[in-house]
Formats: sequence, structure tokens, C-alpha cells
Amino acid sequence: MSDFISDFWSHYVAVLTAAGIAGCAILLWVAGRKKVAARSDNTTGHVWDEDLTEMNNPLPMWWVGLFILTIVFSVGYLVAYPGFGSYQGELKWSTKSEYETEVARATRELEPLYAQFTAKSPEDLAADTNAMAIGERLFMNNCAQCHGSDARGSKSFPNLADADWLHGGTGDKIKETITKGRTGVMPPMAAAVGSSDDVKNVAQYVLSLSNSPHDSVRAQLGKSKFAACAACHGMDGKGNPALGAPNLADDIWLHGWGEQAIIAMINNGKTNQMPAQEDKLTPAQIHVLSGYVWGLSNKPQVAAKQ
Ligand code: HEC
Ligand code: HEC
Repeated sequence: MSDFISDFWSHYVAVLTAAGIAGCAILLWVAGRKKVAARSDNTTGHVWDEDLTEMNNPLPMWWVGLFILTIVFSVGYLVAYPGFGSYQGELKWSTKSEYETEVARATRELEPLYAQFTAKSPEDLAADTNAMAIGERLFMNNCAQCHGSDARGSKSFPNLADADWLHGGTGDKIKETITKGRTGVMPPMAAAVGSSDDVKNVAQYVLSLSNSPHDSVRAQLGKSKFAACAACHGMDGKGNPALGAPNLADDIWLHGWGEQAIIAMINNGKTNQMPAQEDKLTPAQIHVLSGYVWGLSNKPQVAAKQ
């Protein structure tokens, strides 16, 4: 109601509501007073289907009682609860305030539980089965749509259950990733590499780093051109977590395996974003998630702590 710019609709609804209740009361009163002239056999004289007659009995008292009760109830209800135009009701109840009270109560109840979790490091938390049950639910609701319900990711969405990390795999690094998000940026590099033949050679060199099937002549030719890549991926191609530059020597491919996929990376570059969660989740929830994600790729250490 408060969305309307004038009070007209509020008054309109209030008048209709009051008229409806008053109408019911008047109907009852009139029906109770009006005497229908009955015939000697106590029928009204109306006959249907040859022998169906209408008796002239008063309304049963239980029925009249219920009718009065509903009128009294409706008036009481409209005084206490919203319903009479835009009047809020004496109890000031609203779905919004009910929701807010519930959320506040849940937060209060969960506080001691989460306090117990935040006292531990993400690595220790990974061995806490209670925390991990909560972590799994948080992951399913907030992360699985991109990283998959088994956290194994897909093309361009990293696998979080292996030991290969773009940005670092300690509990604290994972927490930083989830809180602030990450943007991995690889600029288009073709111009720095040279001709399209040079690009092809570098791509073959990249394949050779992980011992993937490659053309060794081209790889040799591409080796010197890899200097353009070394600033981010390192001379040995093992990557740099500070820049989010992946290890190219481990045969794990975020953006696709093979010469064509690597050439596409060199020619087009790539900007890949992990959205920050600090506005969506509480610090305690992020803490629990950090432990959950860390635990996925450190199963033996988790088992040893349990
Ligand atoms: C909209 C998709 C999306 C959602 C939702 C999302 N992520 Fe990500 N996440 C990504 C992408 C894309 C990357 C890779 C960023 C890059 O290339 O640098 C990433 C990277 C990460 C990394 C770093 C991986 C590494 O190798 O360093 C972690 C950890 C992570 N996400 C955890 C989470 C968690 C936990 C959640 C849930 C709270 C989540 N993500 C929700 C898309 C998403
Ligand atoms: C400015 C830093 C930078 C330079 C220079 C750079 N890269 Fe990258 N590269 C990145 C980053 C960051 C990513 C990851 C992008 C993401 O977050 O998804 C990446 C991703 C890649 C990938 C995809 C890896 C995968 O797992 O799918 C390949 C292949 C690659 N780079 C090859 C190269 C080659 C070859 C060169 C040199 C010609 C090069 N890069 C130069 C930063 C760089």
C-alpha cells in the first residue's frame, strides 16, 4: 500500500472492507427481525419438483453464533494486523519484520557455532566434520554453479580438488581468493612473439614443457621466443601464483589442451574472473569455505588430523 503516491487506494480499500463487514452485520440483523408470514403447516408456500416445500424455521442458533463470531473476529483481526487499507495494525506485524527477526535469531544461534570454527585455522577446520558439513552446503549453494558440485571445475573454471593452484593453495590464500575474488589477465601476446609461424613454434615449445606430444623441431625453434612469456609463467614455465599465471609444465589445462588452444591464448589473451564473495557471505562463512576447499585437495593430511 505504501507504494501508492496518494492515500486514495488505501481509503478505497478501507471503505470497501468496512462496508463489507457492516453489510454482513446488517444482513444478519434484518434476517433475524423479518417475520415471513407462514402458513398453518409452517411452510412458505414455495414448492419445487412437485413436492419439495420450504419450511419457515428460524436460523439455527449455532449458525447465528458462528456468523457473529466471524464478524467479531474480522474486526479484531483488522485492529491487530495489517489489512485495513494501509493501516499497519496495533501489533505492527509485517512479513519483512518477521523475516528480519528470524534472520537475527538464526545469526544469534549460529554465532557460538561459527565462533568455534573461526578459532581454528582453515587447515585444522578441514578435519572438523561439523564444519565440513556446513562447508559443503555453502559450496553447493554458492560455488557449485561454476566449479561443479564435485569442485572439479570445467573449461575456464578451475578444478579446486587437485593440487594445482593459480593463486596459491594455502588456507590463507584460498580465503583471500574467496573474499576478494581474483582476475587472471593474460594479454594478447602475438605481437611480442612475431609471425604466426613463431606463434606456432612457441605453442609447440609449451607442449614440450609437459612432455605432451609435440613437434620437437618447432619446439626448439620456439624456445627462444618463450622469453616473452617468462615474465609471468617463469623461465621453466612453472607459473607464478602472485600473478595467477598457471604452470604450463604440468599437463593441466584450464583453457583447453593442444596447439590450437595455446595459439588461441597467445593470439587473443584471456581475462578470467572469480567473483568476490565478501558482499554475499559473512567472514565466518568464508572461513569455513576456505577449510572446505583446502580439504578437497589435501585428503591425506585431513585424515591424519582426524
Ligand atoms: C561465476 C563463477 C564463479 C563462482 C560463483 C565462484 N567461482 Fe571460484 N573461480 C571462478 C573462476 C573463473 C576462477 C579462476 C580465476 C582465474 O582464472 O584467475 C575461480 C577461481 C577460484 C579459486 C582459485 C583457484 C586457484 O587455482 O587458485 C578458488 C579457491 C575459488 N575460485 C573458490 C571459489 C569458492 C569457494 C566459491 C564459492 C563461494 C567460488 N569460487 C565461486 C569462477 C567462480
Ligand atoms: C602478463 C602475464 C602473462 C604473460 C606475459 C603471458 N601469460 Fe599466459 N597466462 C597468464 C595468466 C594470468 C593466465 C591465466 C589466465 C586465467 O586466469 O585464466 C595465462 C594462461 C595461459 C595459458 C592457458 C593455460 C591453461 O592452463 O589453459 C597458456 C597456454 C599461456 N598462458 C601461454 C602463454 C604463452 C605461450 C605466453 C607467451 C607468448 C604467455 N602465456 C604470456 C599470464 C601471462
